[in-house]
Amino acid sequence: MTRIFTAAAAFSLTLLASIAMAQDVQVSDKMRAEIEERIKPVGDVCLQGDTSCGGPAVAASSGPRSGEDVYNGACMACHSTGAGGAPKIGDAAAWADRIAKGNDVLYASGVNGVPGTGMIAKGGCATCSDEEIHAAVDFIVASSQ
Ligand code: HEC
Repeated sequence: MTRIFTAAAAFSLTLLASIAMAQDVQVSDKMRAEIEERIKPVGDVCLQGDTSCGGPAVAASSGPRSGEDVYNGACMACHSTGAGGAPKIGDAAAWADRIAKGNDVLYASGVNGVPGTGMIAKGGCATCSDEEIHAAVDFIVASSQ
């Protein structure tokens, strides 16, 4: 516990605690802290014109971000590594049964998360619209067949 407390900033602990309470997930605290750290820029509030808070994925956009941008910002932490049991992008075998459920089911999983798993709502991307999450799902599906 002590190591985790010294390693994590106070605000991310608060964030982690609220997520841990809201979701019954199988991901360890340490793994979750690492994931939160990696996906943090996307979830942060970034005021228009502020260039200090991240790359293109968080820049105030005039239109919806592409599925690839959203994926790179919010989904790859888990879906490129398999963290927490996430099906890896490009792994056709891992995705076949999921893709067979149809886009509507996958969109719902992307937006709402999958209860009891590491798949948190919108992959933790608080600034992502449903439309952007759908585009990210499309990107994953197109890359995993
Ligand atoms: C914190 C880790 C994590 C992040 C971040 C994450 N996912 Fe997932 N995702 C998972 C895990 C774990 C599963 C497998 C859940 C299960 O057991 O069905 C999953 C499953 C899915 C599925 C399949 C759901 C189904 O119904 O079969 C989709 C679609 C998906 N993720 C989309 C996304 C998108 C889009 C993003 C980014 C916006 C994202 N995920 C970010 C961990 C993550």
